[in-house]
Amino acid sequence: MSQHNTLVDVKNLHVHFPVFGGVFSKKVASVKAVDGVSFSIGKNETVGMVGESGCGKTTVGRAMINILYHVAPDVEISGNINYRFENSIVDFASLHPKKMQQYRSKVQMIFQDPYASLNPRMTVAQIISEPLQIHKNMSSKDMEDRVAWLLDKVGLRLEQAKRFPHEFSGGQRQRIGIARTLATNPELIICDEPVSALDVSIQAQVINLMMDLQDEFNLSYLFIAHDLSVVEHISDKIIVMYLGNIVEMGDSSEVYHHPRHPYSRSLLSAVPLPDPTRKNKTRVVLQGDIPTPMNKPSGCAFRTRCPIAKPECAGDIPSLVDTGSEHWVACPVVREAN
Ligand SMILES: Nc1ncnc2c1ncn2[C@@H]1O[C@H](COP(=O)(O)OP(=O)(O)OP(=O)(O)O)[C@@H](O)[C@H]1O
Ligand code: SF4
Ligand SMILES: [Mg+2]
Repeated sequence: MSQHNTLVDVKNLHVHFPVFGGVFSKKVASVKAVDGVSFSIGKNETVGMVGESGCGKTTVGRAMINILYHVAPDVEISGNINYRFENSIVDFASLHPKKMQQYRSKVQMIFQDPYASLNPRMTVAQIISEPLQIHKNMSSKDMEDRVAWLLDKVGLRLEQAKRFPHEFSGGQRQRIGIARTLATNPELIICDEPVSALDVSIQAQVINLMMDLQDEFNLSYLFIAHDLSVVEHISDKIIVMYLGNIVEMGDSSEVYHHPRHPYSRSLLSAVPLPDPTRKNKTRVVLQGDIPTPMNKPSGCAFRTRCPIAKPECAGDIPSLVDTGSEHWVACPVVREAN
C-alpha cells in the first residue's frame, strides 16, 4: 500500500438536527447524529466505517461532501473537516455550500441503491458525461472518448452507452455510478454501503473493481458498511461508531481480529467469521434497543446494552484513547483490565 499522507482530517465533528415543536415552532430538542468525531483519511487509503442503523455513518459522509444543508437547512455543524488539496487546506465544515463548486469534483459519494441515484430518463452516456459538462469545457468528441474510456475502466462495453439504467443489473448499475463518479477525477469517494443491496458474488466483483480503481487513480475511500467482513477486506483502517461517537478505531486487521470495545466485540460475534482461530469465541448477544440520539444515556452511551457495564460508566463520557500502536478504544473498563 502506498504512503498515507493525510487527505482529510476530521476534528471533533458535531452534527445536530434540531427538532422543532409547539405553537411557535421552537427548538425543543436535538438529534445528536454525530457527537464529537475525529479521524483522518490518508491519500490512497481506505477507511471502513461500521455501526448499527442510525449511528451517524451517512451523516458523517454527507458532512464530508458538504451536502447536509441541502438535506436539512437547519442543521447545526461544528468542528473541522480539513481537506488538503494541492497546497491549500479547505475546511468543509465551515465552507458555505455556494463556495463548494470548485471542490465538488474532488469529493464524490456513491450510494447503496445505484438505481435511485441514476436518472431513469438518461442514457448511460448522458449519465456519465453529465458531471463533465458541469465541470469542464470539453468538445463533444473528447466527451465521447472520455465516456468510452470510463466505461472500459468499470468493465462495461461501449455499446451499452446508449441504454437506460433499467436495462442493467444491480451490479452493472453500481458500475455506472462508479464511472460517473470517476469522471471528475475525485480524490475521495464516500462509499455509502455501495454493495449492501447486491448478491454476495456480485459484491465481490464490485469491491475488487473498486480496489483496482483505487490503485490506478490513487483514490481514497470512506467505505461505510454494516458487514464487518466486507470492511476488513477492503480497509486499511476501521472505525466503529455507536450513537454518534467512535468507540473503536485502528488498523483493519487489528480491530477485526482483536476488537477491544464491548460494542465492537458484539458486532463481530454477530457475523460468521471464516477465521478458524475465532471459532470458539463466546457470542455476545446485545440486550435492549439502541437508545435514540435525541436522548442519549449519560456517560458511556453504550452502557444500557453493555454486558460489562459498571455503575461508574454513567459518569463521564469515555474518551477515545490510544491503547498502543494506534488502536483507539473508548472504554476505560477494558483499558484498565489490560
Ligand atoms: N435530515 C435529517 N433530519 C433529522 N434527523 C436526521 C436526518 N438525517 C439523519 N437523521 C438522524 O440522525 C441519526 C443518524 O442517521 P444516519 O442516517 O447518519 O445513520 P446511519 O448510521 O447512516 O444509519 P443506516 O445504517 O440506517 O444508514 C438518526 O437518528 C437519523 O434519524
Ligand atoms: S465504558 Fe462501561 S458501559 Fe461503556 S463500553 Fe466500557 S464497560 Fe461498557
Ligand atoms: Mg446510512
